[in-house]
Order: sequence, then C-alpha cells, then structure tokens
Amino acid sequence: MYQAPRGTSDILSGEQAYWRYVEAQAVNVCRLYGYERIDTPVFEDASLFTRGVGDATDIVDKEMYTFEDRGGSSLTLKPEETASICRAYIEHGLHNLPQPVRLYYLAPIFRYDRPQAGRYRQHHQFGCEAIGDEDPSLDAEVIDMAWRFFSSMNIVHLSLKLNSIGCSSCRPGYLSALKNYYASYADRLCSDCRTRLEKNPLRLLDCKQSTCQPVANLAPKSLDYLCPPCQEHFNQLKKYLALLEIPFEADHRLVRGLDYYTRTVFEIQPEADGAQSTLGGGGRYDNLIEQLGGKPTPAIGFATGIERVILNLKKQEVSIPSLPKPQVFIAHLGSEARDEAIKLASRLRQAGIALIEATGSRSLKAQLRQANTLGVRHTVIIGDREVKTGTVILRDMATARQEAVSPDQLPGLLI
Ligand code: HAM
Repeated sequence: MYQAPRGTSDILSGEQAYWRYVEAQAVNVCRLYGYERIDTPVFEDASLFTRGVGDATDIVDKEMYTFEDRGGSSLTLKPEETASICRAYIEHGLHNLPQPVRLYYLAPIFRYDRPQAGRYRQHHQFGCEAIGDEDPSLDAEVIDMAWRFFSSMNIVHLSLKLNSIGCSSCRPGYLSALKNYYASYADRLCSDCRTRLEKNPLRLLDCKQSTCQPVANLAPKSLDYLCPPCQEHFNQLKKYLALLEIPFEADHRLVRGLDYYTRTVFEIQPEADGAQSTLGGGGRYDNLIEQLGGKPTPAIGFATGIERVILNLKKQEVSIPSLPKPQVFIAHLGSEARDEAIKLASRLRQAGIALIEATGSRSLKAQLRQANTLGVRHTVIIGDREVKTGTVILRDMATARQEAVSPDQLPGLLI
C-alpha cells in the first residue's frame, strides 16, 4: 500500500474549507495593504539558498531537498520563499518600479524536518515581502498586516516577540561580546551549541536544550550593542507599533533561523505554546539582495505556515464558512428520461446552476437517498410520464413537496 511520503499530507475535500478560508483572508489582507501576488518556481538553483539563507543554518545544513537534474544542475525544492523573491526582483529589474515593491505569495515549502504536530516536510506558507525601502514604518506595516491577518480570523491569545539584531556595522561588535561570554561557559553547553559557538554564534540564543537556558538567558543583548542608526530604527518601530496599538514583548533571545536578517526580527506565537509552535515570523533583510548579486536594497517580510494557522483555528474552535456545493440533484427513471436529464443538466449549467446528476439506473428511492446524503435543496425528477408531457417534477427536499413544472421554469425556480 502506497502512502503519502512522511511529513506530507493529502488535503481532502473535508479540509478544503479551512484552506480556502485562510487563503481568502490572506488575499483580503494583502488587498488592504496593496500587496500584489507573485509566484515563483517550486525549485531553484541550490546555491540561491546556500548563499541566501546561509550555510550554517539548520535549513541549509540539514533540511534541504537538493537533487541533480538530468542536465547536471543542482536544484533545491524551495525551503523558503524570500530568497526566491529576491532572485525574481533582481532578475526582472523590479527596482525600476516605484519602491517599495509590495509582494505576497501562497506557496508550498519543503524542509526535511522531523515530522510532528505542526511540523511537516511539505508545508505551505502565506508570506509577504516589501522590497526597496528602509523606513521603519514599513516594518510596522508588515507586522500590522501579520497581526491583522490573525485577528481577522479571530485567532486570539497571541504574543508578538520583537528584537533588533543590528546591521553589518554593529553586529560584529555584538557577536564578539556574545562569543566571549559563551566561551567561558563552553563546557556547560550542549554539543549543538558548541558548534554554534564556532559557526553561527547568534543561534546560541535560540537553543531549546534545558542545560543551555541559564547561559542564554543571561547572555549579552543585541539591543545594547546597536549603532545609533539601528537604535533609532528600533525606537521608531516601537513608536509606530504603539500608534497601531499592537502590543509586543522585546525578546533579546529572538534571532530567527535564517541568516539574512538585519535589524528588526519578530515572531508571532500562541501564548500557551510559545516558540515551539510559532505561527509566523519575519524581519528585515537589508543585505540579501546585494548578497544575491543585486544593488544594495533594503527589504522586510513575514511568513506564516498555513497548516499551523489551521491547527490554531481548530484549537480555538473558530467557525469557518463551508464551501458552496450544488443544491440541485437530477434523478431519472428509464433510458429516455436519462437522455432528457443529460440535456436538461447541460441547459441548467449553462444558466449557471450547479447540480449533480444521478448515474446508472437505480430506483427512485435510492436516487432520493443519494440526494439527501448530498444535502441538496431540490431534486428534479424525470420519469416516463414527464418525458411524454415535456415536464419535470421539482421536489423540495426539506418539505418533500413535489410539483410538475416546465423545464423552462427551472432556472427561475432553482436560483
Ligand atoms: P520561517 O520562520 O522559517 O521563516 O517560516 C515561517 C513560518 O512557516 C513559521 O513561523 C511556521 O509557521 C511555518 N513553518 C516553518 N517550518 C515549518 C514546518 N516544517 N512545518 C510547518 N510549518 C512550518 C521563513 O521562512 C522566512 N522566509 C520568513 C520571512 C519572510 N522573512 C522575511 N520574509
């Protein structure tokens, strides 16, 4: 028996209402802020991510689905979308458009993660990127948009964690303070942290091992090492968030798992579950486009995992609208009636009426049972008599009332 690969899922029709609902909210929030949709390929050159996301990140180090194609190119299924969008921004000269360029996406993402609730090998992200402006009001806009997205679906009890990890001029000073501090605790650290100390010291702060918590909690804070422009940027952002009445918590251990971030980083987490089940996150990446071969271009973005959004909708018992289904069933008895039913179904669909046609030649009772199970409002019945008289029977499924009508009347009666 074949099964979907580990960490992937089929989205069966019973689940689709959640997906369409979340996507519709995403599209609507993007409309409110003027973000336009972009779609990029499912795979990219592997080096886009090694260079963009960073060699020393878990994503690049352990989680990428990389393969060689028949032409010998090394390709990777997208482990995130931001680098792809930057590639597209450079490739299509989007710097020629009025800046910032505001884009959003809904896309499948692939990470060879250890599957568990809320963590999959293929997940789907809704995200947005605002490229070409360093104004902190844009940081506030992106955070506001993310916040509005969740609140529009009545997902509550969320907390916004915020930090600034500085820029290329102040980060080195901070990193050396962090390394010095950690060096004196090296023998107490988990083995991952000992590697991080060498390869990616910022990620030391993100360690989840209990033994490393006391060390990480008392580590030097990036906010204390910001250069004056980064400090000013952070202060402005905090002011705008206050104006927007978005509560946040400064979290000096928030560093994010991708290497491209500069200045602002943020995450939105369910209060009860914390960082393990982060709903969404993002930040500034002012150097990424230059790193990928473009001109220096500041940018900020955010992404959320749709599966996690749906888990939260279910957990918080948010009721969502069901998807529209056909409200008409056509039943027929006898081969002539079936011919009439086929013609009638076509005419009704032409008139915009969604319907389901009976198949085979089951008894009327069986066909009505099927109509009931489908939950339609009306069943149109055609038997020998109706063929002869050129009429049809219209049955109201709730009251079981039936009347003979002309097929020409149906569009008016069924809409
Ligand atoms: P990220 O934090 O790696 O950021 O992922 C964004 C969101 O995707 C997470 O908060 C989570 O909801 C969801 N997610 C991540 N991994 C998984 C997984 N294995 N299974 C299910 N859901 C998952 C980024 O990807 C950045 N590109 C965000 C960004 C956009 N930064 C700037 N612009």
